[in-house]
Amino acid sequence: MKHPVLVTKRIYPEAIEYLRQHVELDYANSDDGLTASELAERIRGKHGVVSQLTDKFDAAMIERLEGVRVIANVAVGYDNIDLAAATAKGILITNTPDVLTDTTADLAFALLLAAARRIVEGYQFVHSGQWRKWRIDLLVGRDVHHATIGIVGMGRIGQAVAKRAGGFSMRILYYDVVRAPESLERSLGLEYRPLEELLREADFVSLHVPLVEETRKLIGKDQLRVMKPSAILVNTSRGPIVDENALAEALEKRWIAGAGLDVFEREPEVHPGLLKLENVVVAPHIGSASIDTRRNMSLLAAQNAVAALSGQRPPNLVNRELLP
Ligand code: DGY
Repeated sequence: MKHPVLVTKRIYPEAIEYLRQHVELDYANSDDGLTASELAERIRGKHGVVSQLTDKFDAAMIERLEGVRVIANVAVGYDNIDLAAATAKGILITNTPDVLTDTTADLAFALLLAAARRIVEGYQFVHSGQWRKWRIDLLVGRDVHHATIGIVGMGRIGQAVAKRAGGFSMRILYYDVVRAPESLERSLGLEYRPLEELLREADFVSLHVPLVEETRKLIGKDQLRVMKPSAILVNTSRGPIVDENALAEALEKRWIAGAGLDVFEREPEVHPGLLKLENVVVAPHIGSASIDTRRNMSLLAAQNAVAALSGQRPPNLVNRELLP
């Protein structure tokens, strides 16, 4: 007998093909996603779920699940799932790390460069017909090469950003709750700093921490106030890591010079204060959005679900304590 599995939202066809071979598939083949009540209804009788970050598995939803053995999230982040509640119920949670590391680091760097070199302003300037003559200080920005970057969170993506920063001859400061091994610091040229010192020293601050209670609003008014007035903040992690009200105020009052943002506190809503500022480059949560990476993430989630339901250890098990 094949295990019944729900896919909550459209994913890449290769993953669907793989799932059809191994499970009895219920595919919500739409980009709309399911409402909480539709999800609760459709999940009934399923043994596995392939979910996305827009599916909220809070404690109440987890509590209602009967017979679900695995939730395979198509994302490296899993803050849409109450991990403690799932673990207490014995539900395996998996994510999709590694396959998106470089793609996300590329986007972080793209936002950093775009904000520093005023690419979006330049685009608008040309398109709106304002470009009539060359000028010595036309859209002058900030140098990225040889500047100081502060990377908050030295996990996989933080390290990939550090490698890119090395290519730009940047000085690389980092902060993490756990200091990186000396060998890694040496090989990537990293200098450890407590968060406040990093914020004071860096020309660019790039955030790469997961969203957990301790990191919620990690960057708020107090943190923004200590940054350099010339600094640029880049966020490709999760919106709620930054207090968006405080950021809008900081940018408006020029406590910092600019921001490159891929994630927001209440997606797809963006704080109106951020949208009216030309020193803010925004993107719609596309950090991992390359064709190959999104395909690989879909496939990896499908493989995680199938492995869990076949009694194997899924390659990307998050609550590892469930399968010691
Ligand atoms: C993730 O993987 O967590 C991204 O935010 C979505 O691709």
